[in-house]
Amino acid sequence: MDKRAMYKISYGLYVVTSAAGGRDNGCITNTLMQVSSEPNRVSITVNKANLTHDMIAESGIFTASVISTEADFSLFKRFGFQSGRDADKFAGFTACKRLPNGLLAVTEGTNACISGKVVQTVDLGTHTMFIADVTDMEVISGAQSATYEYYQSNIKPKPEAVGKTSDGQTIWRCVICGYEYVGEELPEDFICPICKHPASDFEKVTGAKEEVVPVGKSDSGKIVWKCIICGYEFEADELPEGFTCPICGVDSSNFEKV
Ligand SMILES: Cc1cc2nc3c(=O)[nH]c(=O)nc-3n(C[C@H](O)[C@H](O)[C@H](O)COP(=O)(O)O)c2cc1C
Repeated sequence: MDKRAMYKISYGLYVVTSAAGGRDNGCITNTLMQVSSEPNRVSITVNKANLTHDMIAESGIFTASVISTEADFSLFKRFGFQSGRDADKFAGFTACKRLPNGLLAVTEGTNACISGKVVQTVDLGTHTMFIADVTDMEVISGAQSATYEYYQSNIKPKPEAVGKTSDGQTIWRCVICGYEYVGEELPEDFICPICKHPASDFEKVTGAKEEVVPVGKSDSGKIVWKCIICGYEFEADELPEGFTCPICGVDSSNFEKV
């Protein structure tokens, strides 16, 4: 069985927002699709660990803002690399507007928004699929929609090969999940925003040399494992027991050696 077949599936990308308990929140998903036209219905699949999941389950409504090729990586960082359980993702965020259903739609780096009212849920174990009647739709811009592949090749930053950024700042890398922090000193009480490990699990990225890195190995010589669902990469000789993807939450059977 060749799991790389999963890469051949084409996905779009969305900021899926909801609200509950007087709070707004949203997360990045790649799992929206239209499932019927009469009535017009869409489905989205959200990890049960996500705050957005609980908010949709409680309120029964969501809005999906369709991400365009004009989106910046900061949009993914804000909505896809941190949980609303730890941060207010809309704090200081002005590129949004409130819709008639009471939810926020993202208006920059997006080209449309589609709102849904949940009519059915399907329990998929780690995830819930929400099937919803489309209650409202709006085109925001004429920019092209970003596919998952476009995100991987053009929006997601490539890891820097050397220990300093182009403007000379030091990089610290989380040895657990690969998250990189930029700054001369790593604060002692720093907690990795992706996998929640402490500062002691960070190492200074060193080696100002340009090296040809063999396929499947990183510059530390470790094997690279890639999540076939979301593309997240993890460096280790073996995946730790019980490892789950810090981005999309799937288990280690969904990882393959690059
Ligand atoms: C490119 C990309 C695609 C993602 N796709 C999904 C998805 O389809 N379903 C999902 O539940 N999470 C997906 N995620 C992960 C969530 O966006 C992420 O776990 C987020 O921090 C959850 O935030 P919340 O707890 O505030 O809801 C994706 C993340 C990225 C960066």
